[in-house]
Amino acid sequence: MNERRPARRYYIHTFGCQMNVNDTLRMGEALAAVDYRPTPVPESADLIILNTCSIREKAEDKMLSALGRYRQVKLQRGALIGVGGCVAQQEKQKILEKVPYVDFVFGPDAIQKLPEILTRIHEDRVRVVETAWVDSEAYVFPRADPNTSRGKATEFVTVMKGCDNVCSFCVVPHTRGREVSRPFPEVLAEVADLTRVGVREVTLIGQNVNSYAGGVSFAQLLRRTAQVPGVERVRFTTSHPHDLSDELIAAFREEPKIMPHFHLPVQSGSDEVLKRMKRDYTVAQYLERLGKLREARPGIAVTTDLIVGFPGETAEDFEGTLRLAETVRYDGQFSFIYSPRPKTIAMLKEDEWGPVPHETKIERLERLNAVQKKVSAELMAQAVGTTVEVLVEGCSRTDAARRFGRTPHNRVVNFDGDAPVGALCEVKVDFASPSSLGGAQLRVLSLPAVVIPEIASAAEACVA
Ligand code: SAH
Ligand code: SF4
Ligand code: F3S
Repeated sequence: MNERRPARRYYIHTFGCQMNVNDTLRMGEALAAVDYRPTPVPESADLIILNTCSIREKAEDKMLSALGRYRQVKLQRGALIGVGGCVAQQEKQKILEKVPYVDFVFGPDAIQKLPEILTRIHEDRVRVVETAWVDSEAYVFPRADPNTSRGKATEFVTVMKGCDNVCSFCVVPHTRGREVSRPFPEVLAEVADLTRVGVREVTLIGQNVNSYAGGVSFAQLLRRTAQVPGVERVRFTTSHPHDLSDELIAAFREEPKIMPHFHLPVQSGSDEVLKRMKRDYTVAQYLERLGKLREARPGIAVTTDLIVGFPGETAEDFEGTLRLAETVRYDGQFSFIYSPRPKTIAMLKEDEWGPVPHETKIERLERLNAVQKKVSAELMAQAVGTTVEVLVEGCSRTDAARRFGRTPHNRVVNFDGDAPVGALCEVKVDFASPSSLGGAQLRVLSLPAVVIPEIASAAEACVA
């Protein structure tokens, strides 16, 4: 296209995990190339995209209710509406059939095709579905434009996509396809780009990072990432317990820039349930791995995911989960009520294994959350009176005059201070709740390579 149109506006509503958060940034970059600019409000958008998640039923419901709201914008200003992400990949054409005002549907592999999709809609006046998988060998990971991350202290970097596991409850292998690893030189080049705009912490992301195969092992990838000049902190997510290797544990022992936090989803504290979930480890094996990790990095924060009410989960199975939570004393836990997902083994076998009544699921979730709340409160209270190192990410959500950041253990801290985004500072902790710490800045330890003047004050960035 040769003629230049005035910039049009896009708005992306993101649901789901870090993969989607990152994909949204790549969508923005693809749209910028054809003169679309972001708008913070859907009401002024010419294009609205829902980047969807289908991990649980509720996630899908949320998408449908958001679509209903955006329909008004379509009626009022003729905005185009697109559905991307995991529901798009799963439902494909069916979304167009179900929701007549959706203009296009595109899967996670089709993000680079957004400009082409929009051209087809405008010129050919058709509705579009783009959900073909790209073969593993042919897949090229989009390289992030570092300018997207200017002014941020921390950023995600994709190291792989897809998942080759077959956990019986999980839709991800159906929405994200087979595992494909990004070649390690590409990962390191993207990390280096990010440090040049002031990013100091990177989180390597993938659904199953422990099986990374991009030319080096995942442990080596972490070590090499930590060595990129300008990188102060390295994190990653998510890692499956059955291949938490000794090599990865050794990296935690030896590389201080790998942050002392490990998200290790266990899902259940019952061997019977784990077997039906096809998780490929027992509770004892999980605890053995965790013990080694804690030995290698004393004080490491451990968080987890748990599912309650999985088909066939007995009261005794659930007691096992409660006991596990009490034994491990997780720093944080994401607990979910089991939700049947299309095409999964657990959904197909639910009647055979025995569905758990909804009230029982709710009751179990509440009991599990109560255990976690108590443990979190105790662990967080231990921080009061200590000095912690915080990487400033912005201003506090509840008070624009305060700063917000995280400790190496990934604890959220809101504090009084004036350090800019990207500064590492020492903070004296004087308050703890189960979910965050509060305190006051003692001193700035170091500044990022680039201090962006307009956000030198995080508070200003927040008010704007
Ligand atoms: N790849 C990660 C999990 C990603 S999905 C891993 O293997 O650990 C994030 C979490 O959602 C899972 O850990 C699980 O606890 C939860 N989840 C996935 N499918 C679910 C379902 N059908 N019902 C309820 N929770 C589910
Ligand atoms: Fe889903 Fe299991 Fe893969 Fe995690 S490892 S994304 S839970 S199939
Ligand atoms: Fe959801 Fe897809 Fe992530 S199902 S959790 S957005 S990989």
